[in-house]
Amino acid sequence: MSAVHFRRDFPFFQHHPETVFLDSAATAQKPQAVIDALTRFYAEDCAPVGRSAYKAARQADRRYRTARQTIARFLDADAAGIIFTKSATESANLLARAFARPKLCKGKNIVITAWEHNSNYLPWVEICRESGAELRVARPVSGPDFPVVLDTLTDEHTVLVSCTAASNVLGDTIPLAEISALCRQKQIPLALDGAQYVAHHPVDVQTLGCDFLFFSGHKVYGPTGSGVLYVRPELLDEMAPFLLGGGMICGDDPECYAPGAGRFEAGSPDTAAFIGLAAAIDYLNTLGRDAICIHEQALARQMQDGFRALSHRVQLLGQPAPDASVYTFVCPGAHPFDLACLLNGHGIAVRSGKMCAQHLFDALGQPLGGVRASLACYNTAEDLHRFFNGLEDALNRLQRK
Ligand code: ALA
Repeated sequence: MSAVHFRRDFPFFQHHPETVFLDSAATAQKPQAVIDALTRFYAEDCAPVGRSAYKAARQADRRYRTARQTIARFLDADAAGIIFTKSATESANLLARAFARPKLCKGKNIVITAWEHNSNYLPWVEICRESGAELRVARPVSGPDFPVVLDTLTDEHTVLVSCTAASNVLGDTIPLAEISALCRQKQIPLALDGAQYVAHHPVDVQTLGCDFLFFSGHKVYGPTGSGVLYVRPELLDEMAPFLLGGGMICGDDPECYAPGAGRFEAGSPDTAAFIGLAAAIDYLNTLGRDAICIHEQALARQMQDGFRALSHRVQLLGQPAPDASVYTFVCPGAHPFDLACLLNGHGIAVRSGKMCAQHLFDALGQPLGGVRASLACYNTAEDLHRFFNGLEDALNRLQRK
């Protein structure tokens, strides 16, 4: 299937035919199938879930249940372990509060890495500060270092390792199999931040060997306001409630919390968002995950060739994997914001700044942040050709001053 075919399914490009969209790591465009699922729910099927017996409500219950099963299959996970949240950020906060916080006290520790987005950094800073536990931050120099640095920081007092599966800044490969083998051997639960991973790689939580995995729906072509936290089902009952309210109690006793994932979904859910997220996953399955990977790998090769040709003027941060979907770079003499503005003049959408990973940019010695170009299935070879032409033009203007 050609890239042009993928692109045709995304109405954004009919409204912005000249835009080269290279900011999918921030949010991906939505295929018509997702927009149709949202419209259908609101226009034809709108009803509460889990609360009422009439026909439309039961239909909404069925759709919601099916959405959970679709999302579970996408991760090769047990649907019992799928908690719906509003974002990857909420998922990480839930994990921190509900699983880790009750186990933390002075003498215990949490291990994360210096490559985390703030959503997998700040919740740990906060609960360690509150509990007197220690936050240990592994500082890998490049992807292959992860297992060694995590090994040196973990011990019998480690409550959890929470680690990005794919950085939102650096495109390096992170050796997930080795990290999970290490955590299994040391019997430490492992959480993976999949926000930048799940749209680009087939995911199977059994093979990944993680106990928790979280991601946001809007980066996997689904609606904003949808997020997922997968929990290995055996661990659900160890977790304290996070939000309190309707729909999370057992029977008539308001102080007896429901078993399983239901305990973590208090309040009326964003039903449309999860039906939309399931439609995004159905869409990806229809395209074929393998076809998407092959297409994105060809784009990644083109990206890396393009940066190599400009290496005298552009410094790529990290060592991108052959299939990397994010490329963050800095250019001597050119402020990232100025570069992003000049690229915008060419119709090219990229992100600039520190990408909610200030501590990583500090560690990289890049106080101004960088510019990030990120890929998705709808990008084309022509997009990347225009990106590199635009970048050269921007550099000609900024670097000669
Ligand atoms: N986390 C998103 C990004 O990296 C918003 O751009």
